[in-house]
Amino acid sequence: MPWLMKWLPGPHQRIFSITQEILNFIKVSIKEHKENLDPSSPRDYIDSFLIEMGEKEDNDSGFELNNLCFCTLDLFGAGTETTATTLHWGLLYMICIPQIQERVQAEVDAVIGPSRQPSMTDRNNMPYTDAVIHEIQRMGNIIPLSLGKMANKDTTLDTFIIPKGTTVLFTLGSVLHDESIWETPYTFNPQHFLEKDGRFRKREAFLPFSAGKRVCIGEPLARMELFLFFTSLLQRFTFTAPAGEQPSLEFKLGTTRCPKPYRLCAVPR
Ligand code: HEM
Repeated sequence: MPWLMKWLPGPHQRIFSITQEILNFIKVSIKEHKENLDPSSPRDYIDSFLIEMGEKEDNDSGFELNNLCFCTLDLFGAGTETTATTLHWGLLYMICIPQIQERVQAEVDAVIGPSRQPSMTDRNNMPYTDAVIHEIQRMGNIIPLSLGKMANKDTTLDTFIIPKGTTVLFTLGSVLHDESIWETPYTFNPQHFLEKDGRFRKREAFLPFSAGKRVCIGEPLARMELFLFFTSLLQRFTFTAPAGEQPSLEFKLGTTRCPKPYRLCAVPR
């Protein structure tokens, strides 16, 4: 009964009001874009959508203003919260396991050096850092139930019959922590993604972006962002917990599965 949620008190009301605030901001931004749109030179996503939509909204194709608002909202929710939460987990693991942070920094220093900005071409030469980022995502499991889906016809999956209209949630943790696959399923271990000779090792059960037709559409962008932000941060700073504090690796479930708030010191290198 989702309609009931609007009337019930609880923390979800804060999500509703923040969502409304962002939608209002997006509406103002769309209005501004429309006022000075140059069809021959789109500046961004909103411009491109407006150009494709033309003068007339078309509900069937999805090129209508309401959909533009929600697609732009998706870029905030799906595109910002996710990468930020993964980086929160990443820095937390780095302050909890300093010897892993040191090995990443050694690789950053050897491949990129202290001053040049990291670029995507560096990733192929940085298997340890790549493995650490994969392990952060595996352990972070930031969208544990993926996104709900509904069967649009009667479906058989293995021995299960899923009647049309059933809501289905995938527990991504069942693969990300599969005890028959991962050597240390519940312990942070970059070796999961490394061959014996130190080359990067792909793992089929690495599915933080889910799988199938509705797999995360932002995966390539997210993977670039994680690599560039993570390496830039460790190139410039060493992260530690404040003296006498032991940050917790427990999670707090919100829009994503994120770490409990923690404090860190960023010491310039
Ligand atoms: C670490 C970062 C990210 C993770 C772990 C992640 C994970 C996911 C997952 C698990 C889903 C659900 C897939 C399913 O329903 O089976 C999803 C969907 C989606 N993600 Fe991401 N995501 C990330 C970053 C991004 C970014 C950067 C963008 C866009 C800029 C994005 C856009 C989307 C969109 C639009 C969907 C819905 C796709 C659909 O239903 O067809 N995500 N993501």
